[in-house]
Amino acid sequence: MLDKKIEKAYNDQINAEFWSAYLYLSMSAWFQKENMPGFANWMYVQYQEENTHAQKFFRYVNERGGTVVLQPIAKVQTSWKSATDAFKDTLEHERKVTAMINNLVDIAKEVKDHASVSFLNWYVDEQVEEEANAESLLQTLEKIEKKAPGAMYMLDKELQARTFVDATLTPAE
Ligand code: FEO
Repeated sequence: MLDKKIEKAYNDQINAEFWSAYLYLSMSAWFQKENMPGFANWMYVQYQEENTHAQKFFRYVNERGGTVVLQPIAKVQTSWKSATDAFKDTLEHERKVTAMINNLVDIAKEVKDHASVSFLNWYVDEQVEEEANAESLLQTLEKIEKKAPGAMYMLDKELQARTFVDATLTPAE
């Protein structure tokens, strides 16, 4: 049985992960409109990943006998000043998500839910990667912007190669 406090926090996190999915889908649409298909692809893969993050929480709440309460998903931004601006938002958003995950771990410890602490470790590690990916692309974009705007085309080509892998599934699932 799930403690009510952590059940509520899990439901809020499901909403936050779906909101993240919406945000990146919106960025994907914007990049497509800006004729940057590689960036659009990168953001679309990000959207797919966020969906799986939400689904992993969804499955877990059910598995623990909790009640999933799906909440409305708030509107997201639809345009950005530049690719750099979009990646600044991405990094800032991922830092917020990291803080939310850390808060979930704190709640799990507070209510002595050791199973949750173990489950949440996956997200703690995932957030390190999420922040690193956004930060690295942001740094590349900032360099390109200042020194070599022509390299934007090459970066867009490179990002076209990103493919979706559902990292939330273990081989047994
Ligand atoms: Fe689900 Fe990008 O954190």
